[in-house]
Amino acid sequence: MSAPTDQALIDDWRTAPAPLLPLLHAFHDRDGYLSESALRLIAQALRIPLADLYGTVTFYHHFARAVGGLHAPRVCTGPVCTLRGSDTLLAALQDQGASAMPCAGRCDEPIPVLVGHRYLVGQADGTLHELPTPLPPPNPGGSQECIFAEIRKPGRATLAGYHASGGYTGLTRAVTAMSPAQTVDHIRQSKLAGRGGAGFPTGLKWQAVAAAAGQPKSIVCNADEGEPGCFKDRAVLDHDPFAVIEGMTIAAYATGATRGFLYLRYEYPHTLRTLTLALQQAYAAGLLGQHILGTDFAFDLYIRRGAGAYICGEEGSLLNSLEGKHPFPRNRPPYPVTHGFENLPTVVNNVETLAAVPQILRRDPEWYHTLGLGDHAGTKVISLSGDIQRPGNYEVPFGLPLQTLLVEWAGGPLPGRTIQAVTMAGLSGGFLAGEALITATIDEPSIRSKGSMLGAAGMIVFDDSRDMVAVAHNAMAFFAHESCGKCFPCRIGTQRLTERLNGDGPATLESWLAEVNDISQTMKAVSACGLGVAAPMVVESLVRYFPEEVKAHVLADAHQPYIRLQT
Ligand SMILES: Cc1cc2nc3c(=O)[nH]c(=O)nc-3n(C[C@H](O)[C@H](O)[C@H](O)COP(=O)(O)O)c2cc1C
Ligand code: SF4
Repeated sequence: MSAPTDQALIDDWRTAPAPLLPLLHAFHDRDGYLSESALRLIAQALRIPLADLYGTVTFYHHFARAVGGLHAPRVCTGPVCTLRGSDTLLAALQDQGASAMPCAGRCDEPIPVLVGHRYLVGQADGTLHELPTPLPPPNPGGSQECIFAEIRKPGRATLAGYHASGGYTGLTRAVTAMSPAQTVDHIRQSKLAGRGGAGFPTGLKWQAVAAAAGQPKSIVCNADEGEPGCFKDRAVLDHDPFAVIEGMTIAAYATGATRGFLYLRYEYPHTLRTLTLALQQAYAAGLLGQHILGTDFAFDLYIRRGAGAYICGEEGSLLNSLEGKHPFPRNRPPYPVTHGFENLPTVVNNVETLAAVPQILRRDPEWYHTLGLGDHAGTKVISLSGDIQRPGNYEVPFGLPLQTLLVEWAGGPLPGRTIQAVTMAGLSGGFLAGEALITATIDEPSIRSKGSMLGAAGMIVFDDSRDMVAVAHNAMAFFAHESCGKCFPCRIGTQRLTERLNGDGPATLESWLAEVNDISQTMKAVSACGLGVAAPMVVESLVRYFPEEVKAHVLADAHQPYIRLQT
């Protein structure tokens, strides 16, 4: 079959909802890069100033601008892959034009290498191979699950298998036996809260969108999953795609939304294929589109593939990206519930949040909140990786002691080693170490009381063989690389903190600490979004738990190699 013409690509996408990303991908996939003439055509077709389009395209990591660039290997240099020798692998692939990419969300199976639309994993050039996303291991603690309750059932990723294991019971119940307001109330009573990091109560978010003026309303599934150490959403989408589609459809019914977008990170090409197939099957079965389940309820769902930028997980940035604008975070208020996609009421929810919804709708709200321990409602999927015997995704009841997860569920440290530190919220929560590792329970109040946050619950384990200053430097280099640059405290602060962790800066401990503290406090007080507010936690926790290492670092004036991402 001959390749589609420029005009055919333009005609396919020009009038589609949120057309910029799919149109860019269409040219990128056809040509293997984004040519000058392609950008001119797209700018003209979508009436975007060419200079703006250049700025936007070059902001993303994965749009290649040189011939053949799409097929040049990209090697993950995230925090876990760095421990496994990604720099060596990157060097070995240099003759193929390889470049570094930030954490690619496969910390459980390092080192991922993206070649075109194929994912390979391995720790040396000759060992790279394809590896499907592993199923979450059977729950070692025996506690009741929600997200993973059916995920291991045979054929769960097919529509037939999904139906056979209780799929679409929740949506059927909602549209045939409950009003939209009752559906919102059901979720509100369950105490489900956002699983993407901020923990906002889902029922309240839906209620605000249902009450907001303006049509059409939208449901956006945030599947950007760019936080280093997080790979839970990929497991859900690969093995249980209909749960997320059903969750979005229930959210649409509850809020009066008629369109939805699933924003998937670029680094999950296999997941894109799985979701595209699932969407086709859902449409063919009358579970999307007009007259869903034979009722008057209508909902259209579109997949939009990102192009590589951590900040696009932040909801305002994601909405700008969908709208074809430069993906800067938006000033808040107003919030997406009233001024979201195209300035209209919009629910933005994480994959895990939405996957919980069908399970909760099948049952009473009490079922969900009593899954947690003590006063804590529900469960959380933890992505656990690094120096631990059994890395993987674990669904834990909120309130579970951290030690139980690390030692009893995941097998503890590697032989002969002890656990030195564990990151929280991927990298965004910094580290827990020492006594905090013994006393923390897995819930936001407990982790916050230790000066950190649970967030999206990626946890990376570092054993006693690791240099924690180097680990912190790698983490801060990530934030410096991914800072969108919109506001100066974060744009400059992340760079300065990276330099301080690299050995540049004051040579006395007192002045080093004072300066680092000054930068951190400024970033936390006046950064415009969560990236700049959270990034200082890395250096703050380093100072809190590893004062001797910090002292040695400052006094030795140790110059470590700057870990520069070449994207
Ligand atoms: C820098 C940054 C990155 C984020 N990345 C993600 C992400 O990858 N996935 C996600 O669901 N939420 C992410 N969030 C949180 C979103 O802004 C938003 O709170 C979330 O998608 C709402 O869904 P929830 O209520 O279901 O958690 C990020 C926030 C910040 C500040
Ligand atoms: S805090 Fe950082 S990432 Fe967020 S808007 Fe400011 S510069 Fe951009």
